[in-house]
Amino acid sequence: MSSVEIPAGLKELLQGYTVEVLRREPSDLVEFAVQHFTRLLEGQRNDPGAKKRSAKPAWKVTFDTKPNKPKKVDEEKEEYTVKSTTSKYIRRAAVCAEAYNPDDEEDNDAEPRVVHPKTDEQRRRLQEACRDILLFKTLEQDQFSEVLDGMFEVLVKPQEHIIDQGEDGDNFYVIEKGVYDIFVQKDRVSVCVGKYDNKGSFGELALMYNTPRAATIIATQEGALWGLDRATFHRLIVRNNAKKRRTYEAFIECVPLLKSLELSERMKIADVVGARVFKDGERLITQGEEADCFYIVESGEVKITIKSKTKAVQQDDTEVEVARCSRGQYFGELALVTNKPRAASVYAVGETKCLVIDIQAFERLLGPCMDIMKRNISQYEEQRVALFGSSVD
Ligand code: CMP
Repeated sequence: MSSVEIPAGLKELLQGYTVEVLRREPSDLVEFAVQHFTRLLEGQRNDPGAKKRSAKPAWKVTFDTKPNKPKKVDEEKEEYTVKSTTSKYIRRAAVCAEAYNPDDEEDNDAEPRVVHPKTDEQRRRLQEACRDILLFKTLEQDQFSEVLDGMFEVLVKPQEHIIDQGEDGDNFYVIEKGVYDIFVQKDRVSVCVGKYDNKGSFGELALMYNTPRAATIIATQEGALWGLDRATFHRLIVRNNAKKRRTYEAFIECVPLLKSLELSERMKIADVVGARVFKDGERLITQGEEADCFYIVESGEVKITIKSKTKAVQQDDTEVEVARCSRGQYFGELALVTNKPRAASVYAVGETKCLVIDIQAFERLLGPCMDIMKRNISQYEEQRVALFGSSVD
């Protein structure tokens, strides 16, 4: 009978997993195993002493050679690609979906850099369009500049499909102008689940998670977008996401609202959040305005005020403080849940840092927390009645 040799480290590996299962009591052991071992692998790769990974790029991208398509630039040769920047999209020709390792600096640095030269006017418009893009909010300045360099202008026509659900992901898009409907197929029926109105970004999911496109995006009018190819998105944004996960994992785990989420769901929140710092007294939210974000306080404090037009406060438009939120607490959900304008204003008290989630990610990722939020929303009503004597202005 042949003897079986137990590989070194197997016992510890399985023990580690078992301990984590007992500690965290996940509902899905297989999914939890995937997360656990993926994190272990990432940790190993971050350890400078750990065994060197294969030198082959984690996944390869090749562009075809038609005119208007960018060639890869070999940085050592200092050549930059010149491209007609108002052309059609740059479609990905081939992607092999091997697991991407965002921490592998060597591989990332070896990735050729694609640069789309821009006029000063284009760069100004691009910078303006990217100003509030949450995915860019945690980038270092030089990474952000590289992102801007890699973006290319895309002009779109009414009814044009920018993305089709189920397809491979090629580019990430930032909106400069135009209105874009979001359709998601449910039970073979395409349902319009929302729209982007002259701002925001889309197309990150397929690139981040190597999945098919999760929605169809259709332009309803002429518009302008800025695209970022998959390779550059990976090199700059996905790599940054690994850092974001490490930075925010512990904090996100202790946010009471998010406790009911699976670990993988919390990690997806870490992937999409943007961090924003507000100065003392700065207004984050203005009562009456349209809502597009949800906030969690990471440090500092905010005060929430309501303009009251009731007799109890005498003067019109006097702002009355109704609540404060500090580390781990959230605000800005009411208008997103009710689809109404902001019901209160919010100001920073001292320098305050918040994690910000846009409305699309809020709707996609925070569904499981809806019951808790709705319970808290009903308390707002009671508070307003107690303060102002009526529930609505
Ligand atoms: P991706 O899956 O790459 O392509 C379609 C994009 O639509 C997706 O990334 C998101 O950026 C965006 N999107 C907006 N709303 C939704 C939604 N409810 N479900 C899935 N994707 C959405």
